[in-house]
Order: sequence, then C-alpha cells, then structure tokens
Amino acid sequence: MSPNDSYQDKEDILSKTSIKEYIDKNWSECKKSGSGYKVLCPFHDDKSPSMHINDEKGLYHCFVCKAGGNLVQFIKEFKNLTYPETLEEISNFFNIKIPKKNYKPIGEIGLDKKMFDFNKKISLYFKRCLSDEQANLKPIKYLKSRGFSSQDIEENSLGFAPDSWDSITKMVQDKKELLNIALSLGLIIKKDGKEDFFDFFRNRIIFPIKNRQGNILGFAGRTIGDDKAKYINSKESEIFSKRKVLYGLGNFNKLNGRKPKYIFIVEGYTDVLMMNHFGLYNVVATMGTALTLEHANEIKKISNKVIICYDSDAAGIDSSFKNIDPLFQFGIEIFTLRLEDGLDPCSYLEKFGMDNFIQRAKKSNLIIDEYINYLKDKLIEKDLSINEVVDNFVSKIRFVQDYIQRDEFINKFSSSFSISKRKIESIIDNEFVKSEISSQKHNSNRLLGPEDIILKVFLEFIDSRDIGIMNKCSKIFNNIFHKEIIDIIKINPEAEASGVIGSIEEDATSSMLSDLVFTPFDIPNDRQLRGKLILDCIKRIELDSIKDLKRLINLRLSKDGELTDKDEKELLNELKDLIDREKQLQ
Ligand code: UTP
Ligand code: MN
Repeated sequence: MSPNDSYQDKEDILSKTSIKEYIDKNWSECKKSGSGYKVLCPFHDDKSPSMHINDEKGLYHCFVCKAGGNLVQFIKEFKNLTYPETLEEISNFFNIKIPKKNYKPIGEIGLDKKMFDFNKKISLYFKRCLSDEQANLKPIKYLKSRGFSSQDIEENSLGFAPDSWDSITKMVQDKKELLNIALSLGLIIKKDGKEDFFDFFRNRIIFPIKNRQGNILGFAGRTIGDDKAKYINSKESEIFSKRKVLYGLGNFNKLNGRKPKYIFIVEGYTDVLMMNHFGLYNVVATMGTALTLEHANEIKKISNKVIICYDSDAAGIDSSFKNIDPLFQFGIEIFTLRLEDGLDPCSYLEKFGMDNFIQRAKKSNLIIDEYINYLKDKLIEKDLSINEVVDNFVSKIRFVQDYIQRDEFINKFSSSFSISKRKIESIIDNEFVKSEISSQKHNSNRLLGPEDIILKVFLEFIDSRDIGIMNKCSKIFNNIFHKEIIDIIKINPEAEASGVIGSIEEDATSSMLSDLVFTPFDIPNDRQLRGKLILDCIKRIELDSIKDLKRLINLRLSKDGELTDKDEKELLNELKDLIDREKQLQ
C-alpha cells in the first residue's frame, strides 16, 4: 500500500484511458455481457470468456483465477513489465503524457536490494560461525543429532549466531548506513534510550527465510541454550512480513518447474527441513502464525490442493481448522494428515521413513469430514448446542467459493446431523445476503457478509464515506483484510474504486477487492438508504460478535466443576450485560 502516493496523478491516468480498448487491441475482443463486458482471461487456461470488464470503473476481474485490478495491473501482469515500463506502455498506447516523476515506484528504489544484500552478508557470516568447528562443535552436533546432514545444512544455508552481544553490532557500528539497515532488519537492537546497540540473535541455530527468488527476507533462530523462547524471528520490515512469507518457498526451485499435485502445510521449520531431506520439496510452514489470505494466495499459485500436517494434539487440530477460511476463499481443496503418537512430520520421518509417510499422506482425510466429526463430538460432549454447531458450520462454508463444493459440504452436513438441506440453506440466506447467483458459468457465487457489503458501498460511493462510520468500522471489523481496506479508503477518501485497487501492492488484497466490485449486489441509489444499509450491516456485525461472546461464556459455564463461585458469578454478570446489549440492538 502506498498512502503517500499521489492520488491525483494516478486517477488522472486512469480517467484518460480505457481498459476495454487496451484489451480489445492487445489481447482479444471484449464482448458485451450484462452491463459490462467479458473476455477470455489471459491469466489462466480459459476455455470460455470468464474475465469481466467494467470499463466505466476501469477494472477487470476473473472469477476463476481471481486475477483482478485496474489497467496498470493488467498491463504489468499481461506483458510482464515493471511499473515504469507499464506507464511508458500506457503513455504510448493512449498517446497521453505521463510526468516522469510518476515513473518512480513506491518507496525508495534500491532499499529492498540493500536489505537483501545485507541479509545475505549476515547469512554468510552465520554460516561461517557454524562451520568454525573449534568454537562451535555444539551447534553442529545438535543439527547432526536431529538427523540433518551436511548437505541439508549447505542447501538451506543454516548458520549459527554466536553467544555474543556484539558480533554484528561491531560490524556496523561505525557505518551509519549499515547500522540503520541492521536496525530496520532487527538484527541489532537499540538499548533503551541510549545510542548503544546489541545483537538480536545470540546462541541460536539460524534458519534463513528465503522467498521464491532466493532472496533472504529474514531469519529464524532456534535456541540451543536455556533461553525460554525456543524460536525467535527477525522483526517485521519492508522485506519481511510473517503474514506474507512461507518458510519452504525458497526451495521450490528444487521442483524444477513441476507443478506438485498438492502442497503440505506443516507447523515447524524442522518439519520443512526434514521433508526436504527426504526429497519432498512441496512443503511450506507459517512462522508460528495462523495462515493468512496472502499465504493462501501464494499457495494457490502452485497448487489447488493442500495436505495440512500439524501436530496431532488438540492445539494442532484447532489451528488446522483455522486455516480453512483463507484456503477456502481461494478455492483450495484441503486434506488433513494426523500422525500417530502426537509426532510431528520431522520426528515421524526420522522414526518411520519416507515411504510410510507417503503412504499415510495418500490416505489423508478431507478436512470437511474431520470438521463435521469434530462438531459431532462437541455436540455429544455438550460443548456446543445444535444451533451453535450449525452456526459454526455456516460460518466456515460461507468462505467456500466453489458453488458445487459448497453444495456437497451442505449435503454431508445435513446427513450427519439429520437437518434438512433446505433448512441449512435458509439459515445461510438469513445470515448473509445472498448475491444474485447467475445461471451463467464463472460468475461470482460468493455470499456477501455484512463487512463485505459495507466495503462495497464505500468503494463504489464516495459520498457514503462518512469518516465517523469508517472509524467505527475499523474498530468492529473482525477480518484483517477488511480492516486494511477501510484504512486505505480512510487515507484516500476521494479515490475512485480503481484508484483504491491500484494503490494496493498485494495481489491477494487487490484480487479480493476487485472480486467485491464485480460481485453483484443491489446497493440503493439513494444516499440515505445506503446509509441505512450500512447501519444495518454494522448492527449485524455487532450482534454476531455478541453471539460469539455469549457462546464462549456459555461454554465456560457449562464446564461443571472447573469454575470457582466467584468466576461463575462474574461470567453470569458478563452474560447479563451481553443480553442487555443484544436487546438494545435488536
Ligand atoms: P514446535 O514447538 O513444534 O517446534 O513449534 P518444532 O518446529 O518442532 O521445533 P524443534 O523441532 O523442537 O526444533 C512449531 C513452530 O511454532 C513456532 C515456530 O515457527 C516453530 O517452528 N514457534 C515455536 C515459535 O515461533 N516460537 C516458539 O518459541 C516455539
Ligand atoms: Mn514440532
């Protein structure tokens, strides 16, 4: 995102151009369809036109592969050009002048490269420390005892950060520019309020985290001493964000361009490394965080199927269910593999070898079957009421993009719980406003939730962007993606939809946004009615969150014998407050 980018200029370019005209002349003719146009999508193997064009708004969106954005994004992707080259292309094709100052992409050119270079240099240093045998027998011995070979160490550039406060600090303390880079990458830390610095990674095995191009974005360090934190990571920086990066992507080049049938998602660095050790390179891990939409977007580029292989304890099972939402939003099919005895893939592979692992992987379950069983258990153990079970299920499948898949899941659920399919569908209809499902193939079949509807209104109607209401939305929105977009609109309250989408650098976010614009929903033309629609949606979000809190309290209250009288009284009071608030809202 580029809050400081000059909006005026960008809007200007987009208002002087026609995305339809560009596509007509450079790709294939756009055919009239409804109020817009359709054309073959150039970004996937398209058989019938599935890319929608809205020339008025200057946007495109493909409901199949999720490519979407404005003219700049189209040309960048279509011709594989850099940002300045894209502007050059637009200037030539439409014969308009674009001031040179606009050619400079967001942020300082070259800073990323400097950061990559510095990380590379530090990685080489850590590598040398690891191979410096005299001093560091301990880390090498540790890695070998975990089953990693010299080749694994080399291939993954593993290293060691010595047990010292100033190894890196010493390298940079007299060089202002390097010192600032080391600081912004979190490799050194400033002592409270003083101009003194110390090293962040100490006495740890170092795992460099690389992107698919092989650039080092940051590091993870595993303690081999008695530090309480087993793993720590580089801090978030211009080049490193845990929300976006997956560990393991750096080794995808080992697949030699082969598209794997599926990708494993595992929990730990060592799981990834051990699978790599056995020649399995179709594996990624998040860095101690839940899977995000950005992660799902990265995965979708490589495969449509994942096998989640987390630890088989309750925590692992719960977090694997959390991954359902972003993966389903990208139409990815999810399987789960639960290894016996609470083993993680690393220890399983060491104990039983690769053939057994692959055999087990082939028999992995569809996550939706497991999820339905999990809900059954919760019902039997009286952790959830039947209504809550239905609510849980509905809130998950609202993310399923594929209409046929969603239908299949509803079938399974309805037969497992003996609830008629019609009933579940009517609950879905009541909970979410159903978007107009067209009989034509490849149109949106997404159900817009209240947060989606609010964003759609803000995106398309500048005069509905009331700052007070937008602030309120920032506060009550649950989904980070929705929050992010509201913030972008808040910074640029005058920008048209195409301008907002154009200012987003993240593929996942801009694709979700254009999806929203192209998903049909009847927004009233009357400004007051739109205001009322927004207030209704806000009310629904608030009621939903009250419902969640109530369920949580009821769950805790239902666990007999685990609460003191005092706790119970507090919970009952909280519950009463929630019920009062709920009544006020209704
Ligand atoms: P695990 O505790 O399962 O670690 O945490 P592991 O990967 O099996 O590690 P080894 O094999 O003991 O070395 C799984 C993941 O959770 C994150 C890390 O990403 C880790 O790989 N984690 C764990 C942290 O971020 N910090 C911690 O202190 C622990
Ligand atoms: Mn583990």
